[in-house]
Amino acid sequence: MNKKMNIAIDGPAGAGKSTVAKIVAEKLSYLYIDTGAMYRALTFVAMRVGLNLEEGSQLIELLKDLRIQLQHEESGVRVFVNNEDVTAAIRTKNVTSNVSLVSSHEAVRIEMVDRQRKLAENGHAVLDGRDIGTYVLPDAKVKIFLTASVEERARRRYEEHQGKGILSNFDQIKKEIAHRDKLDSTRAFAPLKKADDAVEIDSTALTIPEVAELIIELAKERAR
Ligand code: CDP
Ligand code: CDP
Repeated sequence: MNKKMNIAIDGPAGAGKSTVAKIVAEKLSYLYIDTGAMYRALTFVAMRVGLNLEEGSQLIELLKDLRIQLQHEESGVRVFVNNEDVTAAIRTKNVTSNVSLVSSHEAVRIEMVDRQRKLAENGHAVLDGRDIGTYVLPDAKVKIFLTASVEERARRRYEEHQGKGILSNFDQIKKEIAHRDKLDSTRAFAPLKKADDAVEIDSTALTIPEVAELIIELAKERAR
């Protein structure tokens, strides 16, 4: 497959981006880059040190000292900040509720995007996020905008919680997802948006393997 080819997968929370991106990367022997994990890592550390998350200048100062690493292991991707394993810590409800605010700051995004472009510079990468096709990699050969109804996305998250024994409430999850989507798609700088040349896949009624297969087929087609 084309040496420089990258695959961009954007879309709202719970659409299946990271699940599918992992499978696509594995099948094509590409590198999977979870850009959301990078914003979550900064949010986690900023909250721990008690920063005011409204203040972009404080966040950017902190970020400059943070080495965020995505390490690929058998069990999945592990996330490290200055060698500290934060894989579980960045998925808590608290971090999830604050990550959209942290990622709305332009200076924070510019620094993150710079790091993401470096990670993808050799091609052979699958990146999932909100602004990959529109801003991070506007020249990506394959751009996917993955969606699903908010009802279905909330159902998936609810089931995930049930599976992990986390106490949760479906209506609450649905409200939180809708709120985060709104913040992500209305921010001034690089909002969540379908790129004009992205292929939209509505996964509401599709299985994970079906979505992965659609993307792999498209990647093979574009590589010819
Ligand atoms: O997996 P989930 O949909 O919960 O979210 P995520 O991909 O881990 O992303 C968490 C948050 O990071 C999003 O709600 C966005 O606010 C932000 N994000 C972003 O702004 N740009 C990206 N490229 C990726 C994530
Ligand atoms: O990364 P994003 O927030 O877009 O979603 P995810 O964390 O990859 O997926 C959310 C949940 O939906 C996971 O538990 C998946 O197993 C499930 N799911 C899916 O991703 N795609 C489907 N077609 C059906 C279910």
